[in-house]
Amino acid sequence: MNNYPIFPSLLAFDFAFLQRQVAEVAAAGAAGLHFDLMDGQFVPNLTFGPMVLAALRPHTALPFWAHLMTYNPEALIEPLAQAGTTRVYLHPESTPHIHRVLGQVRAAGMEVGVAINPGTPVDILEPVLELVDGVLVMSVNPGFGGQAFIPSSIGRVAQVQALAQRLGLTPSIECDGGVDCTTIGPLARAGMTGAVVGSALFRSGDPATALRDVVAAAQK
Ligand code: DX5
Ligand code: ZN
Repeated sequence: MNNYPIFPSLLAFDFAFLQRQVAEVAAAGAAGLHFDLMDGQFVPNLTFGPMVLAALRPHTALPFWAHLMTYNPEALIEPLAQAGTTRVYLHPESTPHIHRVLGQVRAAGMEVGVAINPGTPVDILEPVLELVDGVLVMSVNPGFGGQAFIPSSIGRVAQVQALAQRLGLTPSIECDGGVDCTTIGPLARAGMTGAVVGSALFRSGDPATALRDVVAAAQK
């Protein structure tokens, strides 16, 4: 039942009860936690930095995946490594030196991910795909939780899957934004191997049941 990986996004959590909600999604079978770091410049919202990951690290064994929506992502790599981050997703739209920064994440001992905005051609991945463990296909324009899913994301997942196959690579492929029981099935069939889920987990007030429901919907 719980073998389709779901990464709850902390953006949808109640920040007054972070530790409790982390424990709830962990007990419900979350594969890891998705942390959205936003700088108010690269995206029109400001969230939190590595200290929130560091604060939660002693309280759960779940992998921590950091999604960097910041300019100058270089500055956050070492603090994220120190905070016990498992994987870092970087946007090529946020730096002219994506190849170098991906290498810096690897050198810091973390898994490497690349994230692309809905308006960025999938081809941008070709020169860096061999460097990464995972691709995050943004299925909303990043900045906020609870936005409407962009339907063309399904085709973009298929494009990433085809590119990976052509290059003989097997990165994980996740979607981020508007993933729920309705959208997860078509995405999984297009080649998505795991999903970030935010507001869909908390709409009902029962995140554990909602998490099991999206896992089941992915497998239909
Ligand atoms: C959006 C963030 C997402 C967000 C997803 O910029 O990157 O991780 O939390 O939230 P939902 O699932 O509510 O679209
Ligand atoms: Zn995210």
